[in-house]
Amino acid sequence: MQTKPRGSKKAAQFTESVIREMTRLAQRHQAVNLSQGFPDFAAPAAIKDAACRAILDDINQYAVTWGARPMREAIASAFSRRYGVPIVADEQVTVCCGSTEAMMATLLATVDPGDEVIVFEPFYENYGPDAIVSGAVPRYVTLREPDWAFDPAELAAAFNERTRAIIINTPNNPTGKIFSRAELEAIAALCRQWDVLAITDEIYEHIVYDGRAHVPMAALDGMADRTITINGLSKTFSVTGWRIGWTISPPSVTGAIRKLHDFLTVGAPAPLQEAGAVALGLPDSYYADLAAGYVRRRDMLLEILERHGFTCYKPSGAYYIMTDISSFGFDDDVAFARHLVEHVGVAAVPGSSFYRDAARGRTKVRFCFSKRDETMQEADRRMTAKLRRVRT
Ligand SMILES: Cc1ncc(COP(=O)(O)O)c(C=O)c1O
Repeated sequence: MQTKPRGSKKAAQFTESVIREMTRLAQRHQAVNLSQGFPDFAAPAAIKDAACRAILDDINQYAVTWGARPMREAIASAFSRRYGVPIVADEQVTVCCGSTEAMMATLLATVDPGDEVIVFEPFYENYGPDAIVSGAVPRYVTLREPDWAFDPAELAAAFNERTRAIIINTPNNPTGKIFSRAELEAIAALCRQWDVLAITDEIYEHIVYDGRAHVPMAALDGMADRTITINGLSKTFSVTGWRIGWTISPPSVTGAIRKLHDFLTVGAPAPLQEAGAVALGLPDSYYADLAAGYVRRRDMLLEILERHGFTCYKPSGAYYIMTDISSFGFDDDVAFARHLVEHVGVAAVPGSSFYRDAARGRTKVRFCFSKRDETMQEADRRMTAKLRRVRT
């Protein structure tokens, strides 16, 4: 008798992405989508032109596996110029298919089955499956609202001789936290003590508010040698569909990352790497305008959500607002998010998808504000018409 084919044990250990499921639900119910983190406004004309030009110039075949030279040089020089850390493109930069692949390739290249990897929660939901696929055992350290600080003793207790790496996402999705220099120094000291790699996801590097500055882990004393910095074009240039990301790594691990990257994807889209080099060369005013646009959107969505009864944790960076939904009288965040998408017509992400223990996210929901004013105004109208709180 023939048995039905089944998925692997690995695949059975995690569920499909809740965030991307919410986007599908939003489409089904024609809801305003404030769930998934992608802009619904245009990307800069200069980089779209550069992409079109590259295709017309027939840059349409495989680029060098680890990234076209102009793109790698642009990544190295932007990081060196901004943070004063010398980077050798040939030895340290690998261009991947988005920072998503960059993280997967990095973990597969640096972690052995059974090694422990420390992850802060609430976390960007890919990190859990990334750890499982690479065979790592994730250990969680909690960031606690309202300021999403960690307990230094809890962090220290998470390190041991099996720890191989710690994943840090700053500016942070979903909390909007920017790790301070002092917090990063504390993490760095533990990395040095236990000989641990810091893997930092800095994809929201340029989306920072209220005079806060992004501090890259690799710029701290002695940390360039044990930090893998992950970044990409998606958020900074509003091109999440281009799938261009990268790693900046110590030369001793670059070869391993490049091998993994090669056998996962061969390479990132060649014409879009040409456009990426143009993007990274935009003047500083581009980044100032980007942050100014986002602070305005943040304040607009904060006002809307607070008026409708959400308790908001004001983000210092990235483009999400974590909220508390206790005033709406729902038993859990998933039921609330379903109600919101099906009956109110607004999609958001249930807080439990950011925690190992769903109970911690039960009263939370995340909203995204990388959206046009009209999109947020429409969400406001729908909440005004159909969302009722039971407690004030
Ligand atoms: C923290 C974080 N890392 C990575 C990504 C994905 O980035 P990319 O489009 O470069 O794969 C996201 C997208 O939402 C994110 O929030």
